[in-house]
Amino acid sequence: MELTLPLLQEKIKEWKGCPLAERSNAVLGEGNPQAEIMFIGEAPGKREDELGRPFVGPAGQFLDELLVSIGLKRPDVYISNVVKYRPPENRDPTDEEKEQCMPWLQLEIALIRPKVIVPLGRHALGHFFPKMSITNAHGKAQKLSDGVTVFPIYHPAAALHNGNLRQALVDDFLALKAFLDSRENGKLEIENASA
Ligand code: URA
Repeated sequence: MELTLPLLQEKIKEWKGCPLAERSNAVLGEGNPQAEIMFIGEAPGKREDELGRPFVGPAGQFLDELLVSIGLKRPDVYISNVVKYRPPENRDPTDEEKEQCMPWLQLEIALIRPKVIVPLGRHALGHFFPKMSITNAHGKAQKLSDGVTVFPIYHPAAALHNGNLRQALVDDFLALKAFLDSRENGKLEIENASA
């Protein structure tokens, strides 16, 4: 049977391959299945677990504001997470949890086929470039493969706890907008990253 996004989402819901699945709800990606831009967060929080939707809590509200600030809306993009279940007390996901959930994210990316992938924070960046630090990489385009660029950005939740990061995120989004515009104008600025 051909794998489609709805079928993938059914499979993720049924999956019990990660211990987090025993105590929280599956939070699937959502948005435009034909999106050129895909945002990837870390793992669902409390509100996301309750509603079964990504980025609907305080970090999600800030993400929505940032999207609007560069002329995008949620229905224009696709938003998902590295880990599909909420870690207890919102702790960082472990390497094991990230590995267990990795095939789902890879299949989501293969189905959406985004041209620009925006990892939000270090966990999502690590999925693509394990050795890269978010402090150095944020706000700059990195070539992933032909026609696919990774544009890392700080995680919006980090800015809720640290006022200085708020401005950094606003600036990252402006840099993302400049990058998206440069794609349209054919004047691309991409770093050639070594993973
Ligand atoms: N933080 C994330 O990384 N993902 C969400 O869905 C919500 C908050």
